[in-house]
This record gives sequence, structure tokens and C-alpha cells, in this order.
Amino acid sequence: METDMLGLVDAEKGLVSRRIFIEPELYERELEQIFARCWLFLCHESQIPQPGDFFTTYMGEDPILVVRDTAGQMHAFLNVCRHRGNRLCRAEFGNAASFTCAYHGWTYRNDGRLTGVPYLKEAYHNELERERWGLAPVAQLDNYKGLLFATFDPTAPPLREYLGEMTWYLDAFFDRREGGVEVIGGMHKWINAVARQWPLRHRGRPRHGRRPAGCRDPGLRGGDRSRGAETPRLTP
Ligand code: FES
Repeated sequence: METDMLGLVDAEKGLVSRRIFIEPELYERELEQIFARCWLFLCHESQIPQPGDFFTTYMGEDPILVVRDTAGQMHAFLNVCRHRGNRLCRAEFGNAASFTCAYHGWTYRNDGRLTGVPYLKEAYHNELERERWGLAPVAQLDNYKGLLFATFDPTAPPLREYLGEMTWYLDAFFDRREGGVEVIGGMHKWINAVARQWPLRHRGRPRHGRRPAGCRDPGLRGGDRSRGAETPRLTP
């Protein structure tokens, strides 16, 4: 039975049904219509200051690897091996020149290029086009005041336009001190056993107060589920 979404909110009385927290159908629609299309916060650039620094997070339920490559450019990829879809990087943050999948050993540079395929000659007869099977990037990645955002939607409006008047609030916080904001410390995590058992995370702590982050489940969901889950046809 389809849920009456409008009936869950009584704007006149200012009441919201508690079903919004547990309704699977609503959650699926959020993944499809919000998390697969909107600009989503990934991390602060101060969390990956050096070449090779990386940070792993989620967009909706899709695992994401945010990494500053050896040349200093920032990227955000699906954190999924292009061979058989194994989770590529299991660490929450760190520094690496390359990432090797624990399943069959495919290796990717920190700019996403596929550089190592074991048994390339024997298993693939040298026919695998490695340049086609690099890590899958997000559709758009942008930065506002050091905050990295990404979207899976290539047609999404530019980040600045999307943020609109919200930038006033961001400016008020991030321009408060000369020199800007730096995220320091590690990561605090809680496992919330209620509802869908989402891990509740606080990614680091800005110098001047706490900034809570989102709640995500592991897995590969998102809008374009073929991305990252797609595998080479030649795989043995
Ligand atoms: S799934 Fe990653 S190398 Fe096979």
C-alpha cells in the first residue's frame, strides 16, 4: 500500500508524524530523489591537506573515497573496485599513493587510474583496456569555503547556485576567524541501535564548535546503481 506522504505532515499545527523516521518507502524515495540528485557534503579540505591524503564517507548509502592525488588535485570516487564491486578502501582516513583491492589485487593510483591488474596477460590476453576501468568519479565535485560537496547528478545546478542564501549562514560560521576553519582531531562514532541501525558520526571537530555529519548505512544504493557496480565483461 502506498504511503500518503502528504498526510505525514500537518503544516497548520506544526506536527510531523513519527512514521517519517521508519517508513521504508519514504526512505527509498529520499535516496532516489534527494541523495541521488542533491549536492552532498563530503568533508572539509583541511581533512586531506597533503598529497595522497584520503577520507572515506557516504553519499546516501554509496561509499565514497575523497582523495587528494599526488599532484594535489582533489577527487571523489565511488569507493568500489571496478572488477567485482568489492569495497576498495576500508580505512576511514589516511595517506596512500595507490589503493589495492583486497579481493583480486586490482590497483588504482590516487587519481583514480587503474594501474595494476594481476594476470593481465594470462587472464585477459592483454585485451583489458585499463584506461576504461579507473575508479568511477562523482558527477560533480566543488568546494565552498573549504567544504567539499559532490553530486551524482551531472545536470545539477552549480554548487554556489544550489546553496543559495544558505551561504550567508556558512559565511557567518566559516569567516568568523582570520585564517578560516580547520578540522582537527579524529572521528567520533556512535552506533545507534534504534530505527535502521545507522552509524551516527561526527567527522572531526572544527576549532570553534561541533559539526555533526550525516547518518549512512554501508552498501551501494544511490541513483545510478550501475556506476561502480558495472564490471568488465572480460573478467574471469
Ligand atoms: S573485486 Fe577488486 S580486484 Fe576483484
